[in-house]
Amino acid sequence: MVVKRVLSFWGKGGVGKTTISSAFAVALAERGYSVYLLSSDFMPSLHDVLELPLTYEPVKVMDNLVVEQLFEDKIIDLWKKRFGDEVYRVASSIFPVGPEIIDYVAGAPGIVEEFTLYYIYELFRNLTCDIIVWDTVATGGGLRMLKIEKEFYEHLGEAVKLYLKVKGVLDKIRTGSEEPLKLIDSWRLLAQDVLSFLKNASHFATLVSRPFPIDFQVAVRAYQELSQFVPIRFLFINMVSFSGEEKEYLKKFEETFEGKLDIFRVPRFDPSPRGINALRKLISEKDLEKIESVVF
Ligand SMILES: Nc1ncnc2c1ncn2[C@@H]1O[C@H](COP(=O)(O)OP(=O)(O)O)[C@@H](O)[C@H]1O
Ligand SMILES: [Mg+2]
Repeated sequence: MVVKRVLSFWGKGGVGKTTISSAFAVALAERGYSVYLLSSDFMPSLHDVLELPLTYEPVKVMDNLVVEQLFEDKIIDLWKKRFGDEVYRVASSIFPVGPEIIDYVAGAPGIVEEFTLYYIYELFRNLTCDIIVWDTVATGGGLRMLKIEKEFYEHLGEAVKLYLKVKGVLDKIRTGSEEPLKLIDSWRLLAQDVLSFLKNASHFATLVSRPFPIDFQVAVRAYQELSQFVPIRFLFINMVSFSGEEKEYLKKFEETFEGKLDIFRVPRFDPSPRGINALRKLISEKDLEKIESVVF
């Protein structure tokens, strides 16, 4: 069995998550690893960065590199296929509802975030490749996604108790089986698996930021919050030109994260890097080697 890794990129909007994750995916593919590059940001830009046509399905773009842009409607469709029937079975064992309940639940807040994580977890379990490079959504959305999974897990624990209470009364009128309880519990276990997958030793989370005051402050907060859910290992300070206040902030980054994260700097390029050729120059050989030695 191939031992898979996940390299994920987190950070504020506009710091360079998509650009750096694409550059990594290209570089690792060229080093002979089979790479699956995935973006879970529903505002697609992966194809703009790689200068490729936008496709709904995963597409092989070069030897060793498959790229997938996730779409919200695709996630909802998949959710319905995977969980729709189970949700209907649980709901209809308590209430007189029809299958329309599936669409109703599919539109509930948090379902898309929760299922996005489940989707990535399934990729991790089922794909044959060396590494999944995961371009996440901007910090706020990314954190929300992680928090929802945890809440989902906690709520499902409560749901069993609630179900038993409601069922206790309803059983006098209706006769049901144990099945709904088992289903609720299987969802809870799944949420638990997803949360532990994120904390897995083969997951290397990367914080991306820039050497500016606000970016620095956001990065410090993001580090604290994200660390509860994902093992942050690397810090990329992107768009460095070593001028003015940047020097001061590069120092602040180093003082704050020294010993906690491996820190890398990526220069600001002009023009901004687009297309596979330009992306090749983004990460230095030395940095690539260092990261490769940690990850593989
Ligand atoms: N090292 C860099 N040098 C110059 N421009 C960059 C660099 N990294 C990213 N950019 C540009 O900055 C913008 C934001 O980058 P992007 O990767 O889309 O960020 P994110 O995914 O974090 O929102 C894009 O226009 C991109 O081309
Ligand atoms: Mg992006």
